[in-house]
Amino acid sequence: MTTLSRHWHPIATASEVTAEPRRFTLLGTDLVAFRGDHGLSLFTDLCIHRGVALSLGFIENGILHCGYHGWAYDGTGACVKIPSLPPGSPIPPKARAITHRVEERYGLVWACLDEPEQDIPPFPDDEWNRSDYRTFVSHHYTWETSAGRAVENFMDISHFPFVHEGTLGSRDATEVAEHTVEERNTGLYYYLEAPEPASLHSGADDVIRWEYFLTGPFTIHLRKTIPSGDQTLISLVAAPTSEKTTDMFLWIGRNYQLDPSEDGEFIDFTHEIMEQDRLIVESQRPEQIPTNLRDELHLRIPDASGIAYRRLLGAISGAGPFLP
Ligand code: FES
Ligand SMILES: [Fe+2]
Repeated sequence: MTTLSRHWHPIATASEVTAEPRRFTLLGTDLVAFRGDHGLSLFTDLCIHRGVALSLGFIENGILHCGYHGWAYDGTGACVKIPSLPPGSPIPPKARAITHRVEERYGLVWACLDEPEQDIPPFPDDEWNRSDYRTFVSHHYTWETSAGRAVENFMDISHFPFVHEGTLGSRDATEVAEHTVEERNTGLYYYLEAPEPASLHSGADDVIRWEYFLTGPFTIHLRKTIPSGDQTLISLVAAPTSEKTTDMFLWIGRNYQLDPSEDGEFIDFTHEIMEQDRLIVESQRPEQIPTNLRDELHLRIPDASGIAYRRLLGAISGAGPFLP
């Protein structure tokens, strides 16, 4: 069975990892990341000598030095100097930091704590790299919930009229149409088409297409297309720092208003939506999606994506207690 540690998860935005060592947490493991003599390095945040956090140390010439007795680790994790020994003394081969796979992609720093079983989740249509799109990392939040709850909320459309009334939904239009949730090899895809509620809009009967691309376990892209062809992408990757805390990384993309100077309105709008969601999701108990199907109620049509998502998570050991 696959485990969460065999998936890539982001630990930070690219700019949060610098030449200074800094602690990050993933799946309950404390890590230290820095940019040193080998570029990006990621170790367990622990000095093999006496168990001190390496993130309390310092960098000199691209080498990470423990803040306790100064043992120096190069970017590959090898201990290259023990200052309390005479110069030229042999270094015990076991003197190594515990290293992890780390990569920078899509403006984030990703880690995989075990042998990866799939690649870092791509964008649906390579929007990150396209010149006809403006795509950027827009937010990094910490939420008091599990990654599964956070992603399931992002996939859920029937809360729009209540949680996002006046922005994404309206109480005049609460019904969710039947839709097919397609299983793809690493995730799910589904879409809904609906006229924009009259109260949000000038009155024209413009049909909006909402497309959801999920890559398991915790990456979801939502693409909104209006009849003119304008597309807005709002994407989330939720990183399980622990069972009840989640780091939320968001990207925003669009194929109109391409100038970065126009990012502000998109950042503010998304922040408002996410804060409305945070209040709701942080109140959910238990914080993990429950083990037993009978503990919560599922509606076949409005909750179709949630049911499919719980099945997908159920196949990943350690993703939380999910459906049988
Ligand atoms: S604990 Fe790190 S050098 Fe001693
Ligand atoms: Fe929401």
